[in-house]
Amino acid sequence: MTLRTLIYGARQIVTVTRNRNEKFLCGKDMHDIGIVKSDAVGLSLLIENEDIVAIGTDDDIAREFEGIEVDQKIDATGCCILPGFIDAHTHPIWAGDRVHEYAKKLAGATYMEIMREGGGIGFTVEQTRLASDKDLLVSLVARLKRMLHAGTTYVECKTGYGLEWPDELRLLKILEQARSHVPIGISITYCAAHAIPKNKTAEEMTDDIVNNQIKALKKLMDEKELNVNDIDVFCEKGVYDIEQSRRILLAGKEIGLSINFHGDELNYTGSAEMGAQIGARAISHLECVSDEGIRAMAEAKTVAVILPHTGYTLRIELPPVRRMIDAGVPVALGTDANPNAFSSAMSISMNLACVLCRMSLEEALAAATINSAAALGISDKYGSIEVGKKADLIICRCPSWEHIIYQFGDHTHLIRHVLKHGTIV
Ligand code: NIG
Ligand code: FE
Repeated sequence: MTLRTLIYGARQIVTVTRNRNEKFLCGKDMHDIGIVKSDAVGLSLLIENEDIVAIGTDDDIAREFEGIEVDQKIDATGCCILPGFIDAHTHPIWAGDRVHEYAKKLAGATYMEIMREGGGIGFTVEQTRLASDKDLLVSLVARLKRMLHAGTTYVECKTGYGLEWPDELRLLKILEQARSHVPIGISITYCAAHAIPKNKTAEEMTDDIVNNQIKALKKLMDEKELNVNDIDVFCEKGVYDIEQSRRILLAGKEIGLSINFHGDELNYTGSAEMGAQIGARAISHLECVSDEGIRAMAEAKTVAVILPHTGYTLRIELPPVRRMIDAGVPVALGTDANPNAFSSAMSISMNLACVLCRMSLEEALAAATINSAAALGISDKYGSIEVGKKADLIICRCPSWEHIIYQFGDHTHLIRHVLKHGTIV
């Protein structure tokens, strides 16, 4: 049975890739985000089940589909339709908060100073281990619902506040459970190598991940108990070095995970060069990336996931996004939502990307949609408004689409409907 939904009357439809089936946009193409505008007549979008089947003026669609039965009509008069945002990097499953550290950071303490004193990720690992499964699920689902209602229809979710296998496995299982509680798309990334547990060295932890954890993970994936997409590591001075990171990432690749990791964040480590060389699909942060690293990523078409909220919160230099775009690196965006950078609003990430990283509005939207989809390997089905793609959409009540970025941190009242797979959520 076909369920048809017609959205009509819209003022603008921002298609992002203009029905050209592009995997991502880079360089100057990021400016051409295929805005269909019509001041005189309304615009329509027809959905069959989960998929977009037609885009056009109200009259054209009415004519083309004359006589067909429509089950649901959504009046979008005066509204703008955008693809749902795709958040390419979050850490959404954890307990406790770190508001006490926020005050310390504002007073001048650095991220690594706090981490070395046992705070930071270590503190959240302790709090997360103490929390019950139920509490972790409830707080995770609340965060995911908040994201969805703020326009994020697909999100990458990392583990990483467990570190040891039993704790990481618990987080994986709770992430899997969350799928049935909230209709947001979830891509799971295994990030046991997020920090070094108190009782181990980085080398011992690397051995454990490569020799034990990855094998246990593979078994559960083969048995279809878990559906994990990517492998991650915090490749950073004082955490996992470049060789340990390479070993962990390659072990993940070996069992079919895609490489998607934290690199060149607080210090230059050569993460971009290493990641491009081993076929990383995405590398996040890159505040300290080298020119050589940018060249390598452009050549390998490794997606750079920019997290402006983190640099802003830590008051560190932001990544050289202009140089990346000019060099042809596909640039995507994420929120990094975690107890250090506590925001899951993609509109805030886009605003910060524009103001602090000097991206244009068009580049920011392309980065938050089609390019984030590419960072997660899902841009064949998500990230743009194209015939044949999933109907993950935001219908906004604003005179033009730019308001969703322009109205800084205050955009939820603009969102009239969020559609996931063609259904209002
Ligand atoms: O992307 N750098 C490592 N991971 C996170 C921070 C997580 C945390 O501080 O809890 C990041 O910034
Ligand atoms: Fe992160």
